[in-house]
Order: sequence, then C-alpha cells, then structure tokens
Amino acid sequence: MFWLEVCAAICCFTCLLARKIPTYDYLEDNIYTELRSLLDDRDGWKEGGGGVGHPREERGWTPGLVLGQVAGVSVDPLGRPVLFHRGTRTWDYLSFNSSHHYQEGGPLEEDVVVVLDPDTGEVVRSWGRGHFVLPHGITVDSKGNTWLTDVALHQVFKFGGEREESELSVGEAGVPGSDDHHLCKPTSVAVTSSGDFFVADGYCNARILRFAADGTLKDQFGHQGSEGSAGALYVPHGLALDETRDALCVADRENHRVVCLKAGLQHQQQFGQPVMTLQDPNRSRVFDVAFLNGMLVGVGGSEDEGVATGFTADMDTGDLLDAWAPLTGFHNPHAISVSQDGVAIYVAEIGPNRVWKFVLDTPATF
Ligand SMILES: *[C@@H]1O[C@H](CO)[C@@H](O)[C@H](O)[C@H]1NC(C)=O
Ligand SMILES: *[C@@H]1O[C@H](CO)[C@@H](O)[C@H](O)[C@H]1NC(C)=O
Repeated sequence: MFWLEVCAAICCFTCLLARKIPTYDYLEDNIYTELRSLLDDRDGWKEGGGGVGHPREERGWTPGLVLGQVAGVSVDPLGRPVLFHRGTRTWDYLSFNSSHHYQEGGPLEEDVVVVLDPDTGEVVRSWGRGHFVLPHGITVDSKGNTWLTDVALHQVFKFGGEREESELSVGEAGVPGSDDHHLCKPTSVAVTSSGDFFVADGYCNARILRFAADGTLKDQFGHQGSEGSAGALYVPHGLALDETRDALCVADRENHRVVCLKAGLQHQQQFGQPVMTLQDPNRSRVFDVAFLNGMLVGVGGSEDEGVATGFTADMDTGDLLDAWAPLTGFHNPHAISVSQDGVAIYVAEIGPNRVWKFVLDTPATF
C-alpha cells in the first residue's frame, strides 16, 4: 500500500512536471524582461557572436501550433519555414528490429509537411499525407524543391515545387542496406545550386554520399568510427553546405563534433578533405548545423545530457563564439535552419514538439 502511494505520488509529480514544460513562451511581459536582462548581464551576451549578432527568440510565435515530433525544419526561397514532423507517430526502441527494419505501420495519413508564415507563424499550407512512415530531415533548395528523408523507408525523396508526387527518390522502400542503391536510416540532404546533392546516411551507415542531379551516385566518403579523422563518423545527423567555401559541414552526432569537409564542387577529387573540426561544442552531442553569414550555427545536447543549446562558431578559426537558447531553455533541439537572407533562425524540437524562431540582436555586418 505504501509503495502504491509512493508510486502514485511520483506519477502525479511527473504529470505536473510534464504539464509545466512550456510548449510556448508563457511568461508575463515584465517577468520575461526582468529575466532576460539578468541573463544578458550575467553572460555578457550583448557582445553577440563574432559580429553576426546574438540569436534571440521571438516571443509568442506559433503558440497554438499542434505538431508531432518535429524532426526537421528548413526555409523556402520565400523565407517561409517548412517543418517535417511525425504526426501521431513516435520513434522509440521498438520501432526497428536489430536488422534496422521498421516494425510499426504504414504511411502516415496526416499532412506531415507544414509551411508557416514567417511573421505570424500561421499555417500557410500543409501536405505529405500518405507518403511518409517516419520523417527525419527536410531541405528546401534554392529552387524551391523539397528534399525529405524517411528513416523507416530508408529513402530520400525530392518533391518539385508544389507537386505532391516525388520526382526522384534514392534507396529501396523499407529495405535497409549499405550498397550503392540502398540507404539505412538516412538523416539529411544538402543541395548545390546545380542540383547535385549530398545525403548523410545515416543512423546505421556512417557515410556521406554525393549524387548528380539525376540521382546517379558520384562518390562517397566516410566510415563508422570515433578515432578522430575527418572520415570517422558516428551518426552523421545533419548537413550544411557553403558553396562559396566549397565546404560541407556534418553534425557528427555521437562523436560530439561538427566536421567540415571539402564538398569537391570545383574539383571532385577533393571531396572529403578536412576543412575544419569543431570538437565538443558545449560537451554535448551535435544534432544539426547551418550557415549564417559565413558563420556556423548549430544545435546540440538534450535534457538527458544536462545541456541543450544553440551555438555559433567561426568557420575560419573553428572557435566557439557564442552559446544561445530561448529564455525558457531548449529541451531536445533536433534541427536548425537559417533563412536565405540570414535574418531568421529556426530550431525544431522533439519533446516538447515545437519550432522556435530567432532573430539576431545586432544586424550582420558582412
Ligand atoms: C526484422 O524484420 C524484418 C521484417 O520486417 C524481417 O525480414 C527480418 O528478418 C527481421 N530481422 C531480425 C533480425 O529479426
Ligand atoms: C557553451 O559554450 C559557450 C561559448 O563558448 C560558453 O560560454 C558556455 O559556458 C558553454 N556552456 C557549457 C555548458 O559548456
């Protein structure tokens, strides 16, 4: 009886805690302002990150938006954030068996791709029902094509414009593998202006694949490992491409680092040469990265790790310049994306499921 009561008490406490986790920024104006100025004084954040400015969340953005696990976020050429979420489905330890085959159900009959108005956060358009089983990464390229990765299907898809039929896919549906025609839980895509694309593959393979625009495999790089070389990857989880630097940065999640490689856009044989490594930003796993006015921004950590944070780093020196989070903190940040004009940063979280919008405190100076 005693233990039953203890158990009930713990459950009740947990419920209360869960309900206290803010799904939106619920602080009163005066409290918010007070807390914010205390934090600013303590951390000297007004300095900003190396001239790009300190990211600050927009208050009360998308308070009413109900989403599943928000695995991915990107920004389309019109500056609109586009989310890829899991609807009613979640990923847990029963979702896959030991050979990486998905065990739970077919395509989600919900619109899991959601386009938002950047100012109001209202839903502009949603689509994608009947296609995806377990959403992961989303990249809207400079021409407005939407690239999506599905870890249960072990596939990458390209959707052109507003069309709801994919015009290109890589991998065989539901069949994990590591040869030239199969992927295994692919996580992320980066697309060049000529239409070539890179795929981070992924949770079970540890390689970066490079494809021609028509889906022909051109090259691959990387192997499973933690010994510190550029090619030793352990869950490549997010990609960011800077064509002017010919740099492809990989959020090498379980190695707690960002590793930036030559993308090989000018000279294909240079693909994979090391450019820069950012080891252990904030001593946590790194989930995703993006470029912001020549700087690198990323998200890492989780509640379980005791630190969940955004960070800003210098691409030339590899120095960590700034750490940032919303006032109420991150819980499980999973993806980051920057608008093409460099004005807005979006961060997607898995539990509580939400998307944050950040703008920069001081305008970028270059
Ligand atoms: C995993 O499940 C698939 C079917 O979903 C099956 O073909 C495969 O043999 C299973 N693997 C193991 C190791 O049980
Ligand atoms: C994270 O990195 C920033 C920037 O270097 C630093 O100020 C902050 O103390 C770090 N936090 C942790 C928990 O390591």
